[in-house]
Amino acid sequence: MSSPDLTETASELVGPGRGILAADESRGTMDKRLEAAGIPADGEMRRQFRELVITTADIGRWISGIILFDETIRSQLSDGTPFADAAQRAGVVPGIKVDTGAKPLAGAPDEKVTEGLDGLRERLEEYAQMGARFAKWRAVITIGDGIPTEQCLQANAHALARYAALCQEQGIVPIVEPEVLMDGDHSLERCDEVTTAMLRRTFAELAQQRVMLEGMVLKPNMVLSGKGAAEQAGVAEVADATIACLRRSVPAAVPGVAFLSGGQSDDVATEHLDAMNRRGPHPWELTFSYGRGLLAAGLSEWVGKTENLDGAHKVLAHRAYCTAMARQGRYSPEMAQQEPVSEPV
Ligand code: 13P
Repeated sequence: MSSPDLTETASELVGPGRGILAADESRGTMDKRLEAAGIPADGEMRRQFRELVITTADIGRWISGIILFDETIRSQLSDGTPFADAAQRAGVVPGIKVDTGAKPLAGAPDEKVTEGLDGLRERLEEYAQMGARFAKWRAVITIGDGIPTEQCLQANAHALARYAALCQEQGIVPIVEPEVLMDGDHSLERCDEVTTAMLRRTFAELAQQRVMLEGMVLKPNMVLSGKGAAEQAGVAEVADATIACLRRSVPAAVPGVAFLSGGQSDDVATEHLDAMNRRGPHPWELTFSYGRGLLAAGLSEWVGKTENLDGAHKVLAHRAYCTAMARQGRYSPEMAQQEPVSEPV
């Protein structure tokens, strides 16, 4: 696939009014989420939840791309339609998570490196045949006493860049996700320092591996106070710090930045995105690639019961609508409280 195809897909993913839905929880994570909602966790319930999500009416008005997990891209809706085809039919670009998880980094206690490079070229070829047009690889950086180390930042940035280069070789747009976790009691300033260091290192490695920046999407954390910090930065402070951090670290050739929600409540993640877009225009599109921030409320509404399907669809659509409004800087917290609406965006 040629470069224009990569840039077209990247632009479609981060284009106006819509954002990405991360529905790529691994089996273990999805099972934990099902169990927490009181739903028996097994393959069929995982499949049913994903079917519920992708069959939400008009999902393509607010969602540009959906990240699938290996198990999902290989399975079908109840009517036999493969998930990637169902996404395409809904006007949503199908994507795939391709890393194989964050594993302990040798010689670096309490730190992790994301694995999955071995055999990645062949796996990408197969996913492309199944319809995937973009991929995701998530690196995880923890803030704590004496961490992150240079060793951890470097190992993860290198793996992200190797992954991104392999994706582009196969005509697949890489979502590059260096996530600095919000766990801990650190300050917003410390999160800023670590996020800036990791982004700079990641872009240095991307350049070294000859990744075409116009054909990728960055998926970073927002710059936040640690979850356990006594003093919590407000919405305006988070928006200003995040934009300043990105401006220092992310080349303007990158078409879009799609934030993860990372354990923020869905309301707060939405308010932060809205505040950032109100401060635009920016050198890149600022959109979302939320998992929990889009799906948690729908899962709680469904609780695995057929009679709740309509209600869960409404809740999912409403969260997508609210987040898409924030992506345009047109959100207000009252929208979250209103009856689910479906006005054009
Ligand atoms: P959250 O929005 O729940 O952080 O998920 C996004 C994601 O894809 C993490 O890798």
